[in-house]
Amino acid sequence: MSKTALITGASSGIGRATARALDKEGFQLVLCGRREERLKELQQELTHPSTVLVFDVSDYGAVKQQLASLSDTFRSIDVLINNAGNAHGLDPAQSASIDDWDAMIDSNVKGLFYVTKEVLPLMPKKNGGLIINMGSIAAKNGYANGSVYCASKAAVDKFTEGLRLDLLADQIRVAAIHPGLVHTEFSAVRFKGDTEKAAKVYEGANPLYAEDIAEIIAFMVTRPLHVNLADVVVMPANQGNAFTLVRQQ
Ligand SMILES: NC(=O)c1ccc[n+]([C@@H]2O[C@H](COP(=O)([O-])OP(=O)(O)OC[C@H]3O[C@@H](n4cnc5c(N)ncnc54)[C@H](OP(=O)(O)O)[C@@H]3O)[C@@H](O)[C@H]2O)c1
Repeated sequence: MSKTALITGASSGIGRATARALDKEGFQLVLCGRREERLKELQQELTHPSTVLVFDVSDYGAVKQQLASLSDTFRSIDVLINNAGNAHGLDPAQSASIDDWDAMIDSNVKGLFYVTKEVLPLMPKKNGGLIINMGSIAAKNGYANGSVYCASKAAVDKFTEGLRLDLLADQIRVAAIHPGLVHTEFSAVRFKGDTEKAAKVYEGANPLYAEDIAEIIAFMVTRPLHVNLADVVVMPANQGNAFTLVRQQ
């Protein structure tokens, strides 16, 4: 029987590329996000059975209700990819917006916790379960103007470590992947739809692409059951840490 993976943030960027990669590996997929149309479009191109759940990860009631609505075909979740999240704003703490801070903590931190809490009862014990949390290089180094985004990803990093210990006896593996700069809609969201400003982030940067991360996630997910790639940091070759990247002229 095919294994099932649930991916949050499957409507764009890394999540969408991961859905395509895991479909190629033969997984059934539960595709989650707020933009239903995009999820349905993605569903059309997949070759294995999939279902769509539309919810905001920061709304605990919606998370609970949507996961409870899964049909028997998708109720046993072998792999959870906790990917949904974004940065909102790039401003010093003195002038940053509280609404941006709330949005990052609510989705990147609380949302990831809520989804994990509701998926755990659906994960078979001692049968190769795996949770991959989407961290960031921002979890490892704080950078100027991004203190709360970095803090949100540092929270994911520490949650991952604690959860791994909690689930040892159940033999559910817990891992995190921490990408550096990846060319997705991330910067367009961060700059609230200012696509010109977003494009500048990637100019001459030789960034990673969503497919690079998806390929690594597919590798993590397809390891033998005794292997857990617990903490994976991946950056473009010309990036040294969260705030040092050499641009091509
Ligand atoms: N791009 C990078 O450079 C980079 C680097 C390190 C880590 N990351 C992390 O990678 C993850 C994916 O980002 P991306 O680069 O692929 O950006 P993206 O293209 O903007 O995708 C973000 C995804 O998250 C979903 N999402 C955001 N907030 C949500 C919420 N409250 N409820 C439900 N879904 C939500 C979005 O779906 P809907 O809008 O349809 O809900 C979308 O599918 C994020 O956790 C991000 O922090 C990105």
